[in-house]
Amino acid sequence: MRLDKILTLTGLTRSQARKAISAGLAQVAGQPVRDAAFQARPEEVTLDGAPMALPGEVTLMLHKPAGVLTATEDRRLPTVLDFVPDFLKNRGFGPVGRLDRDVTGLVLLTTDGQLAHRLISPRRRVEKVYLAQVEGRPLEAELEILRRGGVAFSDFVSLPAGAELTEEGLLRLTLTEGKYHEVKRLCAHIGHPVRSLKRLSIGGVGLDPALAEGQCRPLTAEEEARLRAVAGL
Ligand code: URA
Repeated sequence: MRLDKILTLTGLTRSQARKAISAGLAQVAGQPVRDAAFQARPEEVTLDGAPMALPGEVTLMLHKPAGVLTATEDRRLPTVLDFVPDFLKNRGFGPVGRLDRDVTGLVLLTTDGQLAHRLISPRRRVEKVYLAQVEGRPLEAELEILRRGGVAFSDFVSLPAGAELTEEGLLRLTLTEGKYHEVKRLCAHIGHPVRSLKRLSIGGVGLDPALAEGQCRPLTAEEEARLRAVAGL
């Protein structure tokens, strides 16, 4: 994210941010940076020596690596909260929904309990997009089973889902419910078990391709507005 944009997350206007930057008050990883367009991550930026503080409720997007639990604490394994930057650690983040330990991709972490609650509420049918590498190559007729919905499992009946093969032969699924192991169970049902799975988006907010696995950043104002609209807030 641009340095001037990061400083506006503290509540400064864009022009105040630029003035602070040209005065040499903004530092990235301990070094003064006077270029407002410099690309940095909020957690490495300090303003006049102080770590940045984001006002109000904060939502972060995390590119979750495999092997990480979507939990708030665990004695043995890393959790998604371990990736929250130190300067935000005491703000009370919680994950929005869950990804399995082996699944990578977008996890939203928020201090806003109401937003989290609404985004995972089954009534809201918030779209989540996944990219799955599966065994074999699904036929159109098999994808049609997922598109139609109505697949009965012991604990739920699937809703209609988006299901397309990408040019690379990956299966792109758009789901509007959050059932346990849903993608894996749906893919197994059509005879193509999942080999690896990544979540690409939630409620129209996509995983930033600039975020490497293990990196997180605050949502932009536009992303935040989109999510709040999807959540009906
Ligand atoms: N479906 C799954 O099977 N696993 C996830 O983590 C998310 C969706």
